[in-house]
Amino acid sequence: SSVVVLLTLGAYLVGSLSFAVIVSRLMGLDDPRTYGSQNPGATNVLRSGNKQAAVATLLFDALKGYFPVLLVKLYGPTFGLDDRAVALVAISAFIGHLWPVFFAFKGGKGVATAAGILFGVEPLLGAAVMGTWLIVAFFFRYSSLAALAASLFAPAYYLFGNQIAWQTSDAELLAVAVMSALLLMRHKDNIARLVSGQETKIGAKKDAS
Ligand code: G3P
Repeated sequence: SSVVVLLTLGAYLVGSLSFAVIVSRLMGLDDPRTYGSQNPGATNVLRSGNKQAAVATLLFDALKGYFPVLLVKLYGPTFGLDDRAVALVAISAFIGHLWPVFFAFKGGKGVATAAGILFGVEPLLGAAVMGTWLIVAFFFRYSSLAALAASLFAPAYYLFGNQIAWQTSDAELLAVAVMSALLLMRHKDNIARLVSGQETKIGAKKDAS
């Protein structure tokens, strides 16, 4: 229906708001695409040395995934929309972050946005994936490694939820799996750096790496 088309487009546009760039600009910081990993994401903004900017980036990049999904979860059924619309909106917001129309289609790696989306799909799923990220980040101090581990577990957690907390749907599973696959692909350079021991640890400044 045309409602689905509008929601898909809306989610893509919201996802296209690259908050690493927006927040940095508003706070008078360097453009994150010019230093560190050059990635417009919270991890790289942290390399500017400004923690508030990194936290704001993380929060807003997550919320732009969370709200579109939540909207469809809550009000979709009223308009005859089901889990397929949830999955479509989830993927659209994520695609927006990776290929943002407002930033020459050069976006981020999708970690914060995926987290927000997963919280929207199922809060407990978001919590489990975030918990995995936190545990790996705490022990290894690599943001990328934590994201890789979390995204590998995400589809399995989603499926396992069927046993304890929610009814799985093929469309949502596909959305979760596609997000994980795209996220892994986006971390190609990080994987190479991890393997060669060149990856930067969380909190290291841009000029200290
Ligand atoms: O948020 C993306 C993270 O997993 C890696 O970021 O800047 O170290 O490539 P970065």
